[in-house]
Amino acid sequence: MNLTSYMPVRIISGTDCVKNNSDVFKSLGKKCLIVTGGSSAKKSGALSDVTSALDKCNIEYSVFDEITENPYTEDCRRAGECARNCGAEFIIGIGGGSPLDASKAVAIFATNAEMKHSDIYNMNYKNEPLPIVLVGTTSGTGSEVTGVSVLTNSDNGMKKSIGGVYARVSFCDYRYTCTMPYAVTVSTALDAFAHACESYFSSMSTDLSEIYAEKAFSLLAEGLEYLYSSKDIPDDRIREILNDASIYAGLCLNITGACFPHTVGYALTEDYGIPHGKACAAFIPDFIKICAENKPEKSQRMFDIMHTDKYSLCRMITELADINITVSAAQLEKYRTRWVDPVKNFSRTPGNFTSDTAVKLFEKFI
Ligand SMILES: [Fe+2]
Repeated sequence: MNLTSYMPVRIISGTDCVKNNSDVFKSLGKKCLIVTGGSSAKKSGALSDVTSALDKCNIEYSVFDEITENPYTEDCRRAGECARNCGAEFIIGIGGGSPLDASKAVAIFATNAEMKHSDIYNMNYKNEPLPIVLVGTTSGTGSEVTGVSVLTNSDNGMKKSIGGVYARVSFCDYRYTCTMPYAVTVSTALDAFAHACESYFSSMSTDLSEIYAEKAFSLLAEGLEYLYSSKDIPDDRIREILNDASIYAGLCLNITGACFPHTVGYALTEDYGIPHGKACAAFIPDFIKICAENKPEKSQRMFDIMHTDKYSLCRMITELADINITVSAAQLEKYRTRWVDPVKNFSRTPGNFTSDTAVKLFEKFI
């Protein structure tokens, strides 16, 4: 039996879960800072549900809504300063992966005034972060249930993750995802699939992470197939399936961490502006082929759960990711020095995956 795991987040799920559990906020303090991006928190209805719950509990709040996609360390530091200035006792992150990931860094900066933006990667802070509450509005990140936060270094534009910062509470209500446009729905669903798939075949996988991953596969089989064949935004039932899948995928990712598609996918986001989920999915067919060679029985189990085969699954992922880029020779050279073995996510990948193998994967885009 291998059930080794750590997941300290209190998950509250279901329709109207914010409204029905406003008491949760009361226990965290009298003032808070809401951290969001541009519009999805408002459009989804999540922001107004949260502010109504805070009003009901007589909790004061300020809003920092300047978190961009692939959030910058300096913006998180500024938000932390804002939290200090308004006397926030806890942080509420509302949105997709970017605001949720940013909130984790903001909670650290809020209590550690001396930290420069890039110090966040050292995770060598003196004071405990503020408590964090997360409300997701997309169906991909899994940030609600992981300790991971992926931040873009404001000094060099490179994405890098920190770990071990968990929310105190995460609210999961699929209705907040219903305003996502088709393209975002596809990209976030691909991100969830990448999490489940990378976790399933990781050398770190456990009995528990496999149970979560297999549950995510069974839900994503229907969700991805719908997005692939209909080319249209889903109805409520599929929205709920995709949201549930993203949480199960987050739970397995939390145990194992990712494999190479996430690491190399960052480069496509940084250099070509490809959204995170599609950027990881660009390498998922390569990953599936490597896993089929090295772990044939486990691969067959995934195909069986998803009622598919290697060829059909890879074709669906490739077409949904829809990557149209050209990597120049100069760019390829840059990637040769980007990853220096040992890379954690490479060594967790089945087979002997090295930074040389990673660079070769980009040759298909030349
Ligand atoms: Fe991801």
